[in-house]
Amino acid sequence: MCGIVGYIGDKDINSVLMAGLWRLEYRGYDSSGVASVMDGELEVRKVKGRLMNLQEMLSEKPLSGNIGIGHTRWATHGEPSDQNAHPQVGCKNKIAVVHNGIIENYYTLKEELLKKKHFFKSNTDTEVIAHLIEENYKGNLKESVLKTISRLVGSYAIAVICTDEPDKIVIFRYGSPLIVGIGKNENLIASDIPALLDHTKDIIAMNDGELGIIKKDKVEFFNAEGEKIKKEKKKVKWGPESIEKEDFPHYMLKEIHEQPNIIRNNISLKIKGNEFNFGEDFKFSPKELAHLSHIIIQACGTSWHAGYIGKYLFEDFARIRTEIDISSEFRYRNPVMDGEPLVMAITQSGETADTLAGLREAKAKFIKILSLVNVKGSTIARESDSTIYLNAGPEIGVASTKAFTSQIFQLYLLSLYLSKLKWTLDSSEIDKKIKEIKELPKKMKKILKKENEIKEIANKFKNAKDFMLIGRGINYPTALEGALKLKEISYIHATGYPAGEMKHGPIAMISEGSPVVAIATKSSVYDKMLSNIEELKSRKAKVIVIGTENDEIIKNLGSDVFYIPECEENLSPILVSIPLQLFAYHIAVLNERDVDRPRNLAKSVTVE
Ligand code: AGP
Repeated sequence: MCGIVGYIGDKDINSVLMAGLWRLEYRGYDSSGVASVMDGELEVRKVKGRLMNLQEMLSEKPLSGNIGIGHTRWATHGEPSDQNAHPQVGCKNKIAVVHNGIIENYYTLKEELLKKKHFFKSNTDTEVIAHLIEENYKGNLKESVLKTISRLVGSYAIAVICTDEPDKIVIFRYGSPLIVGIGKNENLIASDIPALLDHTKDIIAMNDGELGIIKKDKVEFFNAEGEKIKKEKKKVKWGPESIEKEDFPHYMLKEIHEQPNIIRNNISLKIKGNEFNFGEDFKFSPKELAHLSHIIIQACGTSWHAGYIGKYLFEDFARIRTEIDISSEFRYRNPVMDGEPLVMAITQSGETADTLAGLREAKAKFIKILSLVNVKGSTIARESDSTIYLNAGPEIGVASTKAFTSQIFQLYLLSLYLSKLKWTLDSSEIDKKIKEIKELPKKMKKILKKENEIKEIANKFKNAKDFMLIGRGINYPTALEGALKLKEISYIHATGYPAGEMKHGPIAMISEGSPVVAIATKSSVYDKMLSNIEELKSRKAKVIVIGTENDEIIKNLGSDVFYIPECEENLSPILVSIPLQLFAYHIAVLNERDVDRPRNLAKSVTVE
């Protein structure tokens, strides 16, 4: 979604703001802008379209001053245009605001402000904030911001500068992420850590209902009542190098290739002999976990697919009844949460609005919350009772890949741990599975070495208008994820189905040449998958099969076959996902899509 940056210090304001915005580009946007204060005047540059347009504008007409704010906008209220881009400014050209989120009562506020003779230049909800701060301004920016936010309904992270107080940026967070970067004789703000890393690794994450006053040599924090509060700074463990593309043409491809190392790293962090160590943020006692009545997993998109795989794992290994729900449904459907359940929130970003809301729904009912999160210190991690980190490093490509396989890995380990606590698997079985896990990085590398095979298959199918992906058992959710990858980055329609459902409707779609990807690795449902493939073949579909090495039967069934190494059935989604990710990637590249920044999508969905 939208991105916020801000800077106060001695560096060139143009390059700091611009570099920060480039770092946030991956989040998705359709216009951008910056503003600074110099000699009592606001300077604003904003433009529709790519960041390059703003950069060109700034090279012709740079900002002056040493305090500024910047924004990448992803349109919600008002189409993408120069006027609707942020910063938004009040009538008197004194106050400039950048905003992430949505102001739900903006229409009422706008009516009120129009009656007070404010004139509006955009169709955004954000402009209302700028006018309201101006209306409330009586010589103290902090007070006018506090008065303003008491009128706002919705979710927002805002950064405000004012010509009368050119020594500070005032920020406020309610429902949308905002981080402060602490430098030496300079300070920064951003909606996401990558925008800060070129300057500092010391950060302070804002919580909902907190206001910050950011000066060059000082930062101060207050609650929504204006009372001073203390906040601790933390060190980010990764540096700017982790957000470079290196020699890869796209972040997505780099992230696909990082997967074996991420799993290897997680193995050494989390498996100690035959014991599991989920890290210091995993605070549940074995006793608490052994007494769980059931698990409810809620998540969105790819994380929901990982959660679906989790359901198979928890039920198979630990014999714990597990529900899986999409967060936007879970949060509104009044779910039954009696007994001693554990609610799990699975999320790469840790900031997804619906997943956060689902977590809060459960928390309000005093349910235990465990989150699986990639971004350290994110809101969902902070609001959970326990967190298991994915340790996947920053994921920049909008299409999630490495976070997905790491989520499956954590779920696999957790299900083994629960099976140990509940005595549902004996120790020799667990040891055997640990051995299998340790083989994963090698097997993943082997698949990646065969990328060209996938590229060739992608080349054959690059003009397809429709794909169906089918799987059974634990690889049914993998098929869903493969279809989502295709849709997201190639814009080609793709549907995932449990193969057993074909006869109940979807097979009507199949005609000569219809492309179907079938996951038919060696498993408990292998024979069933063979029958499904036969049915498709007899209707002249073109079946691309993901099979297990040395399977001669499959060779004669599929029009194309991609082999993965043999592995334990419940671990196979990690291996199967790789060719599916590569297939979607190459189809998208062959269709000249913007792989890392697919249209209409944002990396983290911080509004409903
Ligand atoms: C993944 O490729 C998607 N971009 C999207 O479905 C994503 O998984 C979803 O928005 C959830 O994000 P989260 O994991 O950060 O909560």
